[in-house]
Amino acid sequence: MTTSVGSVFGAVLDPVNRHNPYPLYTSLRRTPVGREPDGTWLVTTFREISALLHDPRISSAVDPDREPVGLAPSFLRTDPPQHDRLRRLATRQFGPPHRPTFVADLQQSFEGIVDRLIADLPASTADLVDQFAYPLPVLVICELLGVPLADEPRFKAWIDHALAAAENPRDTPAFRELGDYLGDLVDADPEPGLLRSLAHDDGPDGRMTRDELVGTALLLLIAGHETTVNLIANASLVLLREPRWIERLLDDPSFAIPLVEEVLRWDPPVQFLPWRTALDDIPIGGTTIPRGATVTLLLAAGNRDAAHVSDPDRFDPDRRPVQHLGFGDGIHYCFGAPMARLEAQVALRALAPVLARARLLEDPPEYRPSPVLRGPRHLRVALQ
Ligand code: HEM
Repeated sequence: MTTSVGSVFGAVLDPVNRHNPYPLYTSLRRTPVGREPDGTWLVTTFREISALLHDPRISSAVDPDREPVGLAPSFLRTDPPQHDRLRRLATRQFGPPHRPTFVADLQQSFEGIVDRLIADLPASTADLVDQFAYPLPVLVICELLGVPLADEPRFKAWIDHALAAAENPRDTPAFRELGDYLGDLVDADPEPGLLRSLAHDDGPDGRMTRDELVGTALLLLIAGHETTVNLIANASLVLLREPRWIERLLDDPSFAIPLVEEVLRWDPPVQFLPWRTALDDIPIGGTTIPRGATVTLLLAAGNRDAAHVSDPDRFDPDRRPVQHLGFGDGIHYCFGAPMARLEAQVALRALAPVLARARLLEDPPEYRPSPVLRGPRHLRVALQ
């Protein structure tokens, strides 16, 4: 991702606007498909983003000049047929038809983790990111993959470095070190969990190679660290700002379902998808994206497109239907969506009584540096 200094998108990337990029997205939507001063193309409206997410002329494949050296790309960054084979292999372990109750069976474990985290919250002030929203998905993904939790601080540091250096990943050894760590785990035959199941699966597509296994583990570990945390934190923030939704949640636990969907629309954890490439000239939105161009899809701007949803800036969990791009769309549609939804619903239901007696100590809160995986770094609250 390069910065377009001086442009509206440059302002989106600027940390001073991290707490509220939405007015900038409103300006950007005036040009549904536009070329930035640095030559990249931005797509900002729902219809055009959706169309491109389904367009085989848009590639997700890795540009060898921009990616960490020596690591096999995960299926997030590959195109068919390689993508489809890897995704099929991973999906076999993650849900229907091969393991139809996989996600539903996780509910009890989520509830146990959530209850423990809530019981451990301090009595007077708490940080709902450090002490709740962050540890939950991390505990879940480590347990699921069979990655030793004791090693979490090590790979957390690698992930932080790697994402902070996302401007130029070739310069960071962090991805490689994390890859080496996961490679050692794979070689040592991991604990029971997803990694081990993937390593031993003999389905119609054969087995993943060692490199593919490491790439997939890396993807799942990062996805499990950096997205659900923002969903829970973004939801907690909107609830703290509008306590009537906390009341609704306390009265009706099933309200967690539309609540989570509206957060995914209104303040999504993944704001945009950078680095796609046009494989051909693509006429769209009154212009033509030229072959070879880098294309950025602004999911969070599309989610608030008035041509797609009425009164888009209003947070309204009662709107129906809630059709959003929070999990992407098309062949790369989020593989972890059913799990992330359940995790966030369980978390918010259990957190509601805490939120009901919490007051935000810092508003807006400090945000994490990334404009892509965007969410509060801390949510400090006083508890009565
Ligand atoms: C709230 C939480 C989450 C959000 C908002 C989210 C969002 C997304 C988005 C927007 C994409 C599309 C990327 C693209 O098209 O380039 C994606 C893909 C993906 N997500 Fe998630 N994600 C979440 C949680 C998870 C979790 C918990 C996992 C794993 C357990 C996961 C695994 C993946 C994978 C493997 C892909 C790539 C799918 C493919 O390329 O076919 N995600 N996610």
